[in-house]
Amino acid sequence: MSLLASADPTLWAAIQQEANRQRDGLELIASENYTSAAVLEAAGTVLTNKYAEGYPGKRYYGGCEFVDVIESLARQRACALYGAEHANVQPHSGSSANMAVYLSILQPGDTFLAQNLAHGGHLTHGMSLNFSGQLYKAVHYGVRESDQRIDFDQVASLAREHKPKLIVAGASAYPREIDHAKFAQIARDVGALFMVDMAHYSGLVAAGIHNSPVPVADFVTSTSHKTLRGPRAGFILTKEANAKLVDKSVFPGMQGGPLEHIIAAKAVCFLEAMQPAFKEYARQIVANARTLAETLIAGGLSLATGGTDNHLMLADVTPLGLSGAIAEKALDHAGITVNKNMIPFDKRKALDPSGIRLGTPALTTRGMKEAEMKKVGAWILRVLKNTSDEAVLKTVRGEIAEFCRSFPVPGIE
Ligand SMILES: Cc1ncc(COP(=O)(O)O)c(C=O)c1O
Repeated sequence: MSLLASADPTLWAAIQQEANRQRDGLELIASENYTSAAVLEAAGTVLTNKYAEGYPGKRYYGGCEFVDVIESLARQRACALYGAEHANVQPHSGSSANMAVYLSILQPGDTFLAQNLAHGGHLTHGMSLNFSGQLYKAVHYGVRESDQRIDFDQVASLAREHKPKLIVAGASAYPREIDHAKFAQIARDVGALFMVDMAHYSGLVAAGIHNSPVPVADFVTSTSHKTLRGPRAGFILTKEANAKLVDKSVFPGMQGGPLEHIIAAKAVCFLEAMQPAFKEYARQIVANARTLAETLIAGGLSLATGGTDNHLMLADVTPLGLSGAIAEKALDHAGITVNKNMIPFDKRKALDPSGIRLGTPALTTRGMKEAEMKKVGAWILRVLKNTSDEAVLKTVRGEIAEFCRSFPVPGIE
């Protein structure tokens, strides 16, 4: 019996149930993944005991000689992986990485330009209830109604009109590769700084499948837990000239002690992402997304932009007479996890939008390939066409649990 099981059986039981859920179902949330057992192990180490305010070589606490080695390794690996001059690996999350960059360069009331949340952007890109929308004046670009791709004419004209101090590219629900160089040119034309939030596709950038924002952006932020397959956390890449500014914003600007156990897990994930196997993994994520998209379209769903060229897709479920919330719930009952999501120009509300967002990073980690994506697509369609038929949902759930046995989850027995 594990130590945790005897010390806290109630908590342990809930963890086991979550592990079973992760193992027995199909995880299609585009922002989730399964870390390797090595990343999990690093995250669960004694490093959680250590206070290390400051940075390697310049700490406010004694006894930091070993965490200095660990954090330096993480920084060096992040720089090597992305070809960056400087990395800050202390942000606790993607949101705090974004906050640190904003604090570095914006004053309250300053204007920045970013992607509309309803068109795929993130809360921290200026949503009115988020700190980013409360502290700063956020102006938003969107996608074109005709093809749901980023409207670069609108980006350029809003940039000329509002003269933002910062332009932000990157999104949470955009199924196409983002042209970072085009954004960078617009930023240069209006004298704005340029930040890319590559949280969703940083694994694809690491593998060289998505164009890298590092050469063209002043600041790059990311989570480490999505396509990059690391622990739940964030990091920032920048030029040497901005290093002090960014480091000061993270600590003491917005955080106290760094989570050295999570930084160690980030170091492991950066190392893993440098291996040839990761390149192959990232290629398979995209191939799987393409196959799943084709299967869903053939089954009658309409996808934003007509498909995908990254790890995710946005499906409009209204042609089947459903809402995103109904679809999410029915799929959940059948052992398929997705999230309801607004589609561009959605006529429905955020809490019950027209779409669902699906992504392939987690299933690809389990070793699933194109043939499996066709099966997964068929299950999704079967559920969506029978959302109120309990018997169908139960049958599908059983078939999926059986199928999942052939695809182990790293770190789960
Ligand atoms: C584009 C983007 N940026 C930032 C974040 C925030 O990351 P976190 O949830 O770690 O704060 C997300 C999370 O989904 C995201 O999609």
